[in-house]
Parts: sequence; structure tokens; C-alpha cells
Amino acid sequence: MKSLFACAAAAGVFVSALWATAAAADPVEVKIAYALARDSHYGAAAEGWEKAVTEASGGRYKFTHFPSSAQGGEREVLEGLQLGTGVQAAVVSSGTLSNFVPEAGVTDIPFLFRDLAHGRAVLDGPVGQSIIEKFPDADLIALAWGEQGFRHITNNRKPIEKPEDLAGLKIRTMENPTHIDAFKAAGAAPTPMSWPEVIPALEQGAIDAQENPLSVIVSAKLWEVQKYLTLSGHVYSTAMLVVAPDFWNGLSEEDQKIFLDGAKQGQAAMRAFVDNAEKSGAETAKAAGIQINELSAEQKAAFQTSMKDAYDGYYKTYGKDLIDEIIAVE
Ligand code: PAF
Repeated sequence: MKSLFACAAAAGVFVSALWATAAAADPVEVKIAYALARDSHYGAAAEGWEKAVTEASGGRYKFTHFPSSAQGGEREVLEGLQLGTGVQAAVVSSGTLSNFVPEAGVTDIPFLFRDLAHGRAVLDGPVGQSIIEKFPDADLIALAWGEQGFRHITNNRKPIEKPEDLAGLKIRTMENPTHIDAFKAAGAAPTPMSWPEVIPALEQGAIDAQENPLSVIVSAKLWEVQKYLTLSGHVYSTAMLVVAPDFWNGLSEEDQKIFLDGAKQGQAAMRAFVDNAEKSGAETAKAAGIQINELSAEQKAAFQTSMKDAYDGYYKTYGKDLIDEIIAVE
């Protein structure tokens, strides 16, 4: 009888060991959404993040990618994160974020950042950290800043060499008041629109122009729908690696650290991709047939002056002290 009990106990131990193995082999799915293709800077961020989390967790998490706006525009993705009804993670542009966390919009001010190094120093410093800390108030968890590079104007009308060439130009902007105000001040006719609508609108001629960094211009092959590219570099375009609060709050402290550290690896991968796109993107676009015009320092200064009127509003919205603090960062 005793040996019968011993056998049953041993079988029980064996079965629970099997269950444990099965459970360990069954990773938790993390759905991640972003607006561009997998082989873009957004995909690089998501893959860098995934690789780091997979390694550090010993494969306890598995990322499923939803690239190319497969889960809708960034606004819908962010709303899904807030409510816990969509994906668990996303890489989104600052353009949409400022509708959720208004303070994030300060990075969208035109001609605020001198170069990539300046932008990164601001995001990695106290200003960037203080904006990240505002996200929980908007029911979102921001883990690391991403970036896209400097935004440039593409259009189908004519080469844009001076601010007057923007007069009445129907240019798609992100759904972001800071961008809309800048283009209004410069005399254009800004048309805010979510990214998934942009290529069809350009194809149908509903808009003449759009503006995005080389990373996006190349990844979305914008030369298929645009004739001219002006290297205006008017805005340093930021992004964010975010997760849903209900997902985040369900993680152990150890796993929260794994996701946070992993997001920093995603940020590094995104920056490396952008470095490369900023160096080679114009050549790629030119070889694909887009007509490029570079701007001299004087021409660029004229665009900066044309957007100056919008600064009164920026000072009101973000505070002159914060804007001056950003400019002063070395
Ligand atoms: O223009 C936009 O909406 C954004 O830059 C991008 C990357 C295309 C979507 O996030």
C-alpha cells in the first residue's frame, strides 16, 4: 500500500514538473504596434527592445509586431494602450503624443534643436526625464525617448527655396498644434491628418505636400508620390517607446526593469538607424528620382524667421524658461 502511495506521489511530482516545463516554454505575448515598416527606424527600435527583453528574461516574453499602422493610426494605438484594450507596447511619434501629454509637444518647436547631438542631450537630460514622468497622468507609461531625425518638406508643386514658396501650399502636418502653428505662420495651408491617410491623399492630389525626416521618406518610398524634397531640417522629430499601464502594473519589479532596460536598447538601435538615414537617405531618395534642393544657411534662416510668429504661442504654451533651458543645453 505504502509503495502505491509513493508511486502516486512520484507521478504527481512528474506531472507538475511537466506543467512547469510547459508553462516555462509558453512565453507571454507582447503585441507591439508602430506606423512604419519593419525595416524602418520604428522596426529597429521594436526589434532592439524585443531582443534585449528576450535575452534578459530567458525567453519568458515574445513580441508580436504590428508594423505599418496595422493597428490603426497612432491616436487609436495610444487610446488602446490607455484603456488596455489594444496592444501592450508601441513606438509612436511625438506628433500624436502631445495630444495626450501636452508637455511632449515642446520638442516639436521648429528650429529649436541645433543637431542630433543637441536633441539627444536634451532627451537624455532633466527636461526629457521630466516629460517622461508626466505620462502616468495620461494613463500611459513612457520608457524611453526615440527619434526620427530632422523633418524636411516634400511636395509636388515646385522646388521650395524660400518661405514665399510655401504660400497656400496644402501641406499635411501631424495632428499637432505646434506644427500647425509653424506652417500657418510661414504662410502655408497646413492640413493635419493621421499618417495612414497621407499616401492616398498625396496620390489623389488632396494635398500637395508633407514633411517628415529622411528615415520616413526612405522607408515609405515617398518619391513614389512626391517630386521635390527640400532639406529644410525644420524640426527635430522625437518619438517614444510606450507601454500600457495595465500591462506594466502586472509586471514584477524585476520584469519592469527588464522592459525599461530593453527600451533603452531599442532607443540605441533607433538612433543608430537614424544616424545612417541622415547620412545616406538623401542619396537614396535622389537615386530613386526625387529632385532635391539643399538650403544655404541664409535660406534656412529665412524659413526660421518665417515661423517666428508662432513663438509667441509656444512661449505661452510651454513657458519661455523651458524653451531657453532647451536652447542652453550643450
Ligand atoms: O508624420 C508622421 O505622422 C510621423 O512622422 C510618422 C513616423 C510617419 C508616423 O509616426
